[in-house]
Amino acid sequence: MEALYVIRRAKLEDVEKVMEINKKELPENYSSDFFYEMLSNYGDFFFVAELKGDIVGYVMSRVETSFSFSSSPPFFLRGHVVSLAVSSSFRRMKIGSSLMQTTHEEMKKHGIREVYLEVRVDNAPAISLYKKLGYSIVKRIPYYYADGTDAYMMSMKLF
Ligand SMILES: CC(C)(COP(=O)(O)OP(=O)(O)OC[C@H]1O[C@@H](n2cnc3c(N)ncnc32)[C@H](O)[C@@H]1OP(=O)(O)O)[C@@H](O)C(=O)NCCC(=O)NCCS
Repeated sequence: MEALYVIRRAKLEDVEKVMEINKKELPENYSSDFFYEMLSNYGDFFFVAELKGDIVGYVMSRVETSFSFSSSPPFFLRGHVVSLAVSSSFRRMKIGSSLMQTTHEEMKKHGIREVYLEVRVDNAPAISLYKKLGYSIVKRIPYYYADGTDAYMMSMKLF
């Protein structure tokens, strides 16, 4: 039987737990100010997965304005998924997928046409998840991460 989790917007009191998951599950860690700023500036796109009262995953994204000569109007909004993680004991339950899908739905409501992210080239689980959701690799960014690992930039049209 699948355990029941809910995806909901992050609240101020969730941030400590989100930071804990981030430290444990990802090599890219940020200052606590960064998490609070993300919540305050882009709270519509900051989601957590809650299972039996515990936070077991999160995703946070921001919104950026992009310019393109070939689009009309030339300015459009792009979503940038900044960080996604699910606690290791709760993986393969579609929590990562649900966090991402909820983010995409929210972005669409805000008129965001395209979403992108960076992922380590050796992070097979995440790359597979993103491909399943419809993302494709746009380019490889050499030495993107602090330890010298390259990133793939992956993106997807939302509508
Ligand atoms: C990547 C991550 C968020 C996936 O979360 P999750 O909740 O386990 O993912 P889901 O259950 O939604 O998986 C959906 C699909 O992604 C792929 N996938 C997920 N984990 C995988 C793994 N370990 N190996 C291969 N494919 C995997 C599969 O296609 C999976 O579908 P399936 O279970 O039907 O085969 C999780 O592994 C994680 O937190 N990793 C550490 C942090 C991280 O790498 N974040 C992303 C940084 S860019």
